[in-house]
Amino acid sequence: MAPLTWDRHTPAPPPDSIGTEPSPTFEPSDLGLGDSFGEGEGERTVITAATPYDLRPKFTGRAAAIQQLQDLTDKAWKEKSIAFAVVLGEPGMGKSRILGEVIARAKTMHPGIHVLQGVADENAHAYGPIARALTVRFGLQPGEDPAESRDKIQAGVADVVQPSRVTEIAHLIAHLLRVPFDDSPVTTPLLDSPQRLEARLFMALKRLLSAEAERNPVVLVVENLELCGTDTINFLQYLAAGMRDQQVAILGTATSELWKRHAAFGDGEVAPTKIELGALTPAESEQLLRELCKQLSDVPARLVGHVKNLGGSPRAIHELVRLLLESDVIAREGYLWRLDAEKLAAMTLPKTYEELVAARMRVMEATERRVLEMAAVVGETSWLDAIIALERSNQPIRDPDGPTLAQIAASGDHSRVSVVAAIGKLVEREWIVEVPQSSVTGERELRFAYPNLWSIVYKSIDEGRRRSYHAVVARWLELHPEGRTPSVQEEVGRHLALAGHPRDAATCYRRAAEAARAQFANDRAIRLFDRALACIGDHDHSTRIYLWHDLGSVYELIGDFEAALGAFERMLRLSWVAASKTKAAVAFNKMGRVWRRKGDLKLALEYLERGLELFRGASDARGIAGSLDDIGKTLQMLGRYDEAHAKITEALSRRGKRGDKRAIATSLSRLGDVQQDRGQYESAYNCHKEALELRKLSGDRWGCVVSQNNLAALAFELGDIAEARTTWLAALPEAEAIGALPLEALILTNLGEVALVDGKLDEARSRLENALEIIEDIDDRGLESECCRHLATLEKLQSHTQAAREHAERALEIAKKAGLREKEAQAYMTLGDVLSTSLYDADDAQGATTDAEVAYNHAIEVLRAIGNEAALGKALFAFGRYKAETGAIAAGKDMLRDAITLFSKLGLGKPATDVEKLLATLT
Ligand SMILES: Nc1ncnc2c1ncn2[C@@H]1O[C@H](COP(=O)(O)OP(=O)(O)O)[C@@H](O)[C@H]1O
Ligand SMILES: [Mg+2]
Repeated sequence: MAPLTWDRHTPAPPPDSIGTEPSPTFEPSDLGLGDSFGEGEGERTVITAATPYDLRPKFTGRAAAIQQLQDLTDKAWKEKSIAFAVVLGEPGMGKSRILGEVIARAKTMHPGIHVLQGVADENAHAYGPIARALTVRFGLQPGEDPAESRDKIQAGVADVVQPSRVTEIAHLIAHLLRVPFDDSPVTTPLLDSPQRLEARLFMALKRLLSAEAERNPVVLVVENLELCGTDTINFLQYLAAGMRDQQVAILGTATSELWKRHAAFGDGEVAPTKIELGALTPAESEQLLRELCKQLSDVPARLVGHVKNLGGSPRAIHELVRLLLESDVIAREGYLWRLDAEKLAAMTLPKTYEELVAARMRVMEATERRVLEMAAVVGETSWLDAIIALERSNQPIRDPDGPTLAQIAASGDHSRVSVVAAIGKLVEREWIVEVPQSSVTGERELRFAYPNLWSIVYKSIDEGRRRSYHAVVARWLELHPEGRTPSVQEEVGRHLALAGHPRDAATCYRRAAEAARAQFANDRAIRLFDRALACIGDHDHSTRIYLWHDLGSVYELIGDFEAALGAFERMLRLSWVAASKTKAAVAFNKMGRVWRRKGDLKLALEYLERGLELFRGASDARGIAGSLDDIGKTLQMLGRYDEAHAKITEALSRRGKRGDKRAIATSLSRLGDVQQDRGQYESAYNCHKEALELRKLSGDRWGCVVSQNNLAALAFELGDIAEARTTWLAALPEAEAIGALPLEALILTNLGEVALVDGKLDEARSRLENALEIIEDIDDRGLESECCRHLATLEKLQSHTQAAREHAERALEIAKKAGLREKEAQAYMTLGDVLSTSLYDADDAQGATTDAEVAYNHAIEVLRAIGNEAALGKALFAFGRYKAETGAIAAGKDMLRDAITLFSKLGLGKPATDVEKLLATLT
């Protein structure tokens, strides 16, 4: 009998239904010599606008606004006093135009004037408009050799500033423009400190512009401030404040959205003058229409009447005249135009800007319209080659490998030529504009002239066509050298989703999300995981399980416990559907950990034990060890140290020496904590130290911070305050850098405690208050109790008895509710301390004494119950001292002796000596 093999049962597709590919043969052609292929083919294509029908009307109306702008700039030039203004108005109201007008007039008066001009859009990198303005200022070309760009920057800077400053300024600008100098002595040391880099960049740009303004007036124009990032906004305010006594004008344009995004804009030292552009008056509208139609012998009354009711938007009036030209209602006959009255009579005149755009699209030539739609599918910003790819994908090709090389050569690259020609027309008619600094390396970038223009065009595209275009764009992006990078993957995912390929889109989003998570870009990761989930729908349970797991973990990291629980709960439900014991166990464990962080230790244990059970059922060794660890830690928090010790030791032995480094580190770290609580300091130190080393080796940044914190806490416990402080100070920025709010809060709380011990009360207050702010957000009860306790001590030290008591009581209440026994005992201690001071303020000394004693007794009771001997020693010390101070010398001495016994047993030399010293003073 033939042996059984799997493949006998696995049906394979019948061979002839697919067929095989014939071996490819090479068909020579002379195409290699043509210019359709070759390096950077896109870069050589020049987009030219042929025979434009210029609509360049004289500037019309708006007398007051332009006068105001002119007065400001005149004053700037004459009195060396900055002109800082922002022109406000809805799209199409003429903001760009009025600034163009002001600049043109300034140029006629001061031929040497320097104008730097940048436009913001959603696609721009950091400092987008500023970078664009500088790109033009230094004459950098897209796709040129970076070395050449650097030379241009260096030379351009050297022309203006004194020699000693050239390197600094040139290197910073080169960095901004993404052509950095290798190993720059200026920027390299700043790379890991973005704030300092930004400060230096600001200064460098200010120096450059100031040096320029020494000689000639300088105008800096930033368009669409509402689309700018905070970086650019801050820079403009900084510049305005720093250049107030120079012949400089900083002019911006914005819609009212500006203050929604940057509420503080204009609150800087130098406030901008706001110039509002409302609707043109009916008379101004008519005037503009007549100006636009000056080549007509007569403007029909119907047009005039219509324009007066068009809402006073100069752009709408322009579009109307363009429509009349494009639909041959107005015919150009040499210089003069002729109006076709019949055609006009037959035409319904659009009443809104949207209708005007739609009407213009209807009369548009087919290729132009197609290219415009293609550009719109790529996005508000698009790239020439992406459009060419779309055009070529439209051509019917029977061979899946494309046309033969001979066919390509014979086509004379018709596709490229016609796309380029159409784009030329579209640029000329102001549908799209070219962007000087492309956001994608080596690609010619195009942008819709106005954002709302893009959305109108996009919405008008037939749905089926739109989908197929999106799929082509996704593939084009992915073939790009940057196509596999996370940011482009997100974009690829977006196109795939719009193309109707949600599963592929989910893969891209997930890839981008994982990259974001690895860089601790947590918000971005969350957004991307959400997208991936939305795209995957109910196509694939196992991927959904992984996605919920990863998303929940990010939520856990940033301390959004509710969201984390929600994510893990879904993971659990899906594990049931998929009948996966291990995945269900992971979900239970994850939820258990979150409950523990939320302070509900009972629920935590329950979940963790369910997880352990499932892992045992699945014989998952790693899972079992992980559960044991987590259970151990929870037991420790409950003060059940011996059980905790047993569980974690079992976990460690299950992992074995050669197990996963991160996992071993986790066990060691937990064991160290338990040992510390049991007073086994040397063993605790070794565990933490070893855990830190393993975490460093495995690149676990979160884990490293945890280990650093553990070591600092141990040093603190042993009385080495300076060491503790240094270690925490080093860990804090690292916790911030990975966006780990719970760790940040923990370290801040600890630093607050150190400051208290050091008597630095102001520092203590600010650290603790910062910590509490985070803690309230992340809902961590253990930490909240701890932080409140320290605040109570602080208030006590500053003699704010009432506040001290309130904080101590809050600490106690939280700990009790959460079942955190050790925290409960500590809160009782703090309450006792706080109450004992009121002995000296309160009249009713007797009553207060009793309260303090009650609190101390509670503390000692709890500590005995949970067997925390180190803490018990401290409590006896405090209570004994208090007794002695209040006259109960004998009882006090007994307690102090008990404390010494405990400290000595634990090998705690320093506290033991402290108590002995105190005992010696009591006679
Ligand atoms: N006062 C004016 N006189 C003549 N044409 C104008 C005037 N204001 C705006 N335009 C024209 O109207 C169109 C839209 O103006 P634009 O400055 O681009 O608007 P915004 O920048 O506010 O969106 C442009 O073609 C522009 O040349
Ligand atoms: Mg504009």
